[in-house]
Amino acid sequence: MNVYDGERMAELLAAQGITPAPEGEDADLVVLNTCHIREKAVDRIYSDIGRLSKNKSPLIAVAGCVAQAEGEEIMRRAPEVSMVVGPQAYHRLPAMIEEAVAGRRSVDTDMPAETKFDKLPARRKVGPSAFLTVQEGCDKFCTYCVVPYTRGAEVSRPYADLLAEAQRLTDAGAMEITLVGQNVNAWTGEDAKGRSVGLDGLIRDLAEIPALKRIRYTTSHPNDMTEGLIAAHGEIEKLMPFLHLPVQSGSDRVLKAMNRSHSVESYLKVLDRARTVRSDIALSGDFIVGFPGESDAEFEETLSLVAHVGYAQCFSFKYSPRPGTPAATMDDQIAPEVMDERLQRLQAALQVSSLAFNQASVGRKCQVLIDRTGRHEGQWLGKSPWLQSVYFEGDVKIGDLVEVELVEAGPNSLRGRLLAV
Ligand code: 5AD
Ligand code: SF4
Repeated sequence: MNVYDGERMAELLAAQGITPAPEGEDADLVVLNTCHIREKAVDRIYSDIGRLSKNKSPLIAVAGCVAQAEGEEIMRRAPEVSMVVGPQAYHRLPAMIEEAVAGRRSVDTDMPAETKFDKLPARRKVGPSAFLTVQEGCDKFCTYCVVPYTRGAEVSRPYADLLAEAQRLTDAGAMEITLVGQNVNAWTGEDAKGRSVGLDGLIRDLAEIPALKRIRYTTSHPNDMTEGLIAAHGEIEKLMPFLHLPVQSGSDRVLKAMNRSHSVESYLKVLDRARTVRSDIALSGDFIVGFPGESDAEFEETLSLVAHVGYAQCFSFKYSPRPGTPAATMDDQIAPEVMDERLQRLQAALQVSSLAFNQASVGRKCQVLIDRTGRHEGQWLGKSPWLQSVYFEGDVKIGDLVEVELVEAGPNSLRGRLLAV
């Protein structure tokens, strides 16, 4: 979502004649688009501000969720910063820049009723794979998480706006669109005929755009995986066989303390239903180790879940106490060295899982959407339908959707052989 926001800020500034500084050259303005989800990300911002103001002292804007959560504190702690703008207010950046040029500092962390999306210029140039924010905010209030506080309540963007933006994205070169939202599968809207639809209805209609070849969505909550959305995986060819469904822990007691409102069993049922309609679906998730009170045995339950599911790829994190969240003041905070050890063990198990998934793909023929050049001359990188990174050689270009045979697997990527362009 921050990548999407970053692109939209860059487009907004470009419309004002503010263009990216050539790589390696000093910029006159630096926008730090920040994440508040873990403490490490927050710490980095202050060191970035220090580093930036050592040299040419550009104008510095802090945007994103740290801006939202710590607006006034950033102003106090970092006098070098002249603008602080929250994720719902960044359409106001041009006016804030004018103020900054005139020597005045400003903070805007409003969550205005008017939507920023209506105030942003239309999408112009994008790569073959683009993001599209369909929903923002979260009403789930997991006890460890700042998102409901920084991004606010769940808001779905209107159906017609999304169809129009998707059309613009494909006109601008996108072949794949990933629908994004903190709780993307909670999206609801009214379609062109005034019928109330969920994310599956939106995906169905987006799939009618001829130039759009692939659709993905992230991030989902297990409780919002409706029958319709699961069924869509078996019916819509353009919907890629990939499901990122965070579980966080393999222990029901920990899930309850996290206020996740699903159990291991109900989560596994969703995965089973998804596999029933789309047997090759690649599964992904997020995990947190060291949630307050997590015992050794409860952590082992997470390892058992990983072994049982067979994930294609996952993200895993050490629990990070966030100010203002209920978990931050819970008893039994876990010692850092225990968290380190658990994370290492979990990541080793996830590597085994990813490698097994990739090895099972060897011999498959599939389409790869090329999105980057590889490390060597003539080498290309792209994504398989299962979101695997595939590298191969051939006379192709970025944006080509080509037929490739997967020939060799590692835990993080596969080597492919180009079959047809
Ligand atoms: N500490 C560690 N990880 C967190 N996440 C969210 N909040 C925290 C936290 N306080 C993780 C969850 C979520 C992902 C986006 O970030 O796994 O799914
Ligand atoms: Fe945070 Fe996701 Fe829970 Fe919402 S559902 S509170 S975004 S972890």
